[in-house]
Amino acid sequence: MCCSVICMFLNEERQMNIVAKLISQTKKPTGIAGLILTKAMNRAHSRITNWGLHFLEIDEGHKILEIGCGGGKTIYKLAQMFRNGKVYGIDYSDVSVKSSTKLNSHLVDQNRVEIQKASVSSIPYPAEFFDVITAIETYFFWPNLENDMKEVLRVLRPKGKLLLVSEIVRRPENEKTIDRFARLANTSDYMRYKTKGELNQIFINAGYGNVTIHENKKHGWICAVGCKPDKKEKEES
Ligand SMILES: C[S@@+](CC[C@H](N)C(=O)[O-])C[C@H]1O[C@@H](n2cnc3c(N)ncnc32)[C@H](O)[C@@H]1O
Repeated sequence: MCCSVICMFLNEERQMNIVAKLISQTKKPTGIAGLILTKAMNRAHSRITNWGLHFLEIDEGHKILEIGCGGGKTIYKLAQMFRNGKVYGIDYSDVSVKSSTKLNSHLVDQNRVEIQKASVSSIPYPAEFFDVITAIETYFFWPNLENDMKEVLRVLRPKGKLLLVSEIVRRPENEKTIDRFARLANTSDYMRYKTKGELNQIFINAGYGNVTIHENKKHGWICAVGCKPDKKEKEES
């Protein structure tokens, strides 16, 4: 993780400044620094994105939404995977929207990709619009995870899937590191990583069924998938 490398070389005060800036930029990229960061994230998150997306089946749907699309590489990958579908992207950062749109401009021109500025808390699409929804390295920034996941559920069609991917899952052995970054960032609004059990429970509380949490033991990554129950499943539960 880049934060760990920074901390090895700098004194506490400079660490605080840099980590706080880095975290606020990853949470909502702004300005030139944010633009550079979105491109860096495209590279840095490529492997974990490939790993997460392989849990989706290729013919799973035609309308795919990527939330918190950052530099837009995941939108591009999804458009390659779902060649007969249309990929939509939202992000509440102007810079992320600009960066994603630029990267996918040829697909936007072909009407295979549509990107707009929006928050996960208020998704500008009708109910049951999407077959698949992805969110890579972003859920821990959402203002109210359970409510936001209910908003995601609203726009998902019955039997549609939400896939959340994260490099870090809260575990006893990384508790100290996560807390240290929270202290360095000097904010209680730090990345709100969840344990595997907490994530599972939040999916259930938000109304998802068939929740599966995949772990990549080598890297410590997590990919949580939940399905929107159809009418019959809802009645049975
Ligand atoms: C760490 S970056 C990850 C970007 C991209 N998904 C990737 O994997 O490279 C987090 C992204 O989520 C976006 N984001 C954070 N909170 C959001 C929210 N509440 N609604 C929409 N986008 C959000 C940020 O603007 C940023 O572009």
